Amino acid sequence: MSQETYVYIHLNGHFIPAGILTMNGQGRDSYAEFQYGKRYLERHDALPLDPVSLPLQTGRFQTARGFRMLFGGIRDASPDGWGRHVLNQAAQGKGFILTEFDYLTLSADDRAGALAFGPDLNGPQRRFPFKTPGELDGESLNLEDMLKIADTIDSENELENKYKRFLVRGSSFDSGLGGAQPKASTSLDGRQWVAKFSRRFDAWSTCRVENATMSLARLCGLVVPETRVIDVAGRDIFLIERFDRETEIRKHFISARTLLGLQGEAESTGHSADHDQSYQDIAGQLRLYGSPAYIKEDLEQLYRRMVFNVLCNNYDDHLRNHGFLYSEGGWRLSPLYDVVAQPMGLEERQLSFLRIGEHGRLATIDNLLSEPSAFGIDRENAFHIVSQMAEAVKNNWPIVFKENQVPQSIFGELRNVSFINAEDFNPLKYYDRGSPRP
Ligand SMILES: Nc1ncnc2c1ncn2[C@@H]1O[C@H](COP(=O)(O)OP(=O)(O)OP(=O)(O)O)[C@@H](O)[C@H]1O
Ligand SMILES: [Mg+2]
Repeated sequence: MSQETYVYIHLNGHFIPAGILTMNGQGRDSYAEFQYGKRYLERHDALPLDPVSLPLQTGRFQTARGFRMLFGGIRDASPDGWGRHVLNQAAQGKGFILTEFDYLTLSADDRAGALAFGPDLNGPQRRFPFKTPGELDGESLNLEDMLKIADTIDSENELENKYKRFLVRGSSFDSGLGGAQPKASTSLDGRQWVAKFSRRFDAWSTCRVENATMSLARLCGLVVPETRVIDVAGRDIFLIERFDRETEIRKHFISARTLLGLQGEAESTGHSADHDQSYQDIAGQLRLYGSPAYIKEDLEQLYRRMVFNVLCNNYDDHLRNHGFLYSEGGWRLSPLYDVVAQPMGLEERQLSFLRIGEHGRLATIDNLLSEPSAFGIDRENAFHIVSQMAEAVKNNWPIVFKENQVPQSIFGELRNVSFINAEDFNPLKYYDRGSPRP
């Protein structure tokens, strides 16, 4: 079995055909092929869809054979848990079992990054094999309308079904779908946002904690998109401005998984084999593929991001939660997303998802200070950055979380678990007669 699609990329306000993708075989025996079009390769503004697996060259590229094999730079344009769930729901009972090719070509135009797909050279075109063309239920969110309607009602039970379905997180959908969190691309005040929803009985009040964590990250010198929390019929919605869209512009987006050249993937979220990857590995690829004028700056941002994740116990720092955008001849670290202070994890010891230093994934200050040279940072500077950030977290988290109306009931866990590394930080421990001790 083999299926084929043209792959388009949005360049200077227009979709341009970049090449042809073919997906062959089934299950563990599947593999993908891609070939750039001659005219695309001749363009002065052509950029690689995937810097590692699909460099700008003639000829046919092929992935290894395996489960869900796809070039990472193209996989990053495919939907994750919620988007797949929406497609599965639409296909249900119609005799379709959706493949990786289907998820890619059936999904809507709000996909991440600058890619699009179509069966011919007439431009991107979404496939609708099981439905007349139009939106699928639970796909897009007209936030302005939802807010208007929510204003006139007393409880979420009175919301129209098309809006209510975004508020189901924590009920039936969670069981079968693991990390499939309802989210939607939406516009508000003329700007594009990703909207993420709270659970019905959310002990951790995720939306507020996520917004507060983002504010704290700004205070720690990280580049963070604009974020806010809005209330709809008593339920929180977290909004984060899309960094891959500007009115007429779409920016090509890839995940750190792609930058590391990894292709097959069983899950959209954390892939257990990815625990072997490190922040230093990402830094190494950034040196090779980064946007030349910004490599130094982005390496420091990546280091700060690693430090921040440890300081707020965000152990969900998997490879699809770090992104890169194409800009000025290379890849730049995207602004921050999906960073949330977490309560106690499953492990007794605090571990990051990725390796962070010579002590592997151990989420400690010592480990953060152990291998900063991969980021172009010497030990003294690393100590300076870590102490400044730890102080900023320690001094500000109670204020920021209070401002965000995070319930007082979880402040104890925030202090004793989420922010324990910042709370316990003692600069003297790292000082030996006035100079930082390695
Ligand atoms: N501000 C943003 N601009 C553009 N794309 C974004 C933004 N925030 C998130 N995304 C994209 O949407 C995807 C899902 O968002 P996010 O990671 O926040 O959701 P999640 O459901 O919490 O993820 P996870 O499955 O890791 O728990 C991201 O992997 C990224 O590709
Ligand atoms: Mg995520």
